[in-house]
Amino acid sequence: MSKIYLKRITSKNFIEIIDLSKTLTEYQQLCVAPNVASLAQAYVNKKRAWPRAIYLGKKPIGFIMLALWDDDIPKEDHPAYYLWRLMIAKDFQSKGYGSQVLDLIKDKCVKDGIKTLYTSCEMKGEQPYQFYINYGFKDTLINDGEQILKMYLS
Ligand SMILES: CC(C)(COP(=O)(O)OP(=O)(O)OC[C@H]1O[C@@H](n2cnc3c(N)ncnc32)[C@H](O)[C@@H]1OP(=O)(O)O)[C@@H](O)C(=O)NCCC(=O)NCCS
Repeated sequence: MSKIYLKRITSKNFIEIIDLSKTLTEYQQLCVAPNVASLAQAYVNKKRAWPRAIYLGKKPIGFIMLALWDDDIPKEDHPAYYLWRLMIAKDFQSKGYGSQVLDLIKDKCVKDGIKTLYTSCEMKGEQPYQFYINYGFKDTLINDGEQILKMYLS
């Protein structure tokens, strides 16, 4: 399997990144906000949001956004990052790239001295809950129909 990498989103690639949302199924579009909304959220949370495109060679295949802090995370888990968004374009799903991205995010967390990585997902179906559990995230609580998950980084 080829290696993926993360790249900044700029005036050159932002349209391609926005268009990746159109590849998701109707069900998957319920699981993750459109990339255009996430980029708007990043724009108004410049210090907190860390958005990146996922590339395979020269091709953008997905999008992630970390929150470098989140007030909902309990103090005992600090310092912590919150994975606000993760999506892989439909044609590139189930090829291991989602797990590879989590490896890259984990590496960043360890490099930045982060103790806990949080994420959350809709529970309307098995996906993407099972993806996170298989990777090693643990359940915390359910908030507003969303399962909150976390993983300790040693
Ligand atoms: C969830 C998502 C990021 C997973 O990425 P991916 O590249 O397809 O996942 P991987 O190929 O790395 O799968 C890794 C493991 O997760 C599990 N998994 C992935 N997709 C799954 C699914 N649809 N149902 C159940 N388990 C799944 C599998 O166990 C897989 O392990 P395997 O290699 O033994 O099959 C991707 O499907 C996606 O973008 N979905 C739409 C958007 C979304 O829901 N984002 C998450 C918002 S919280």
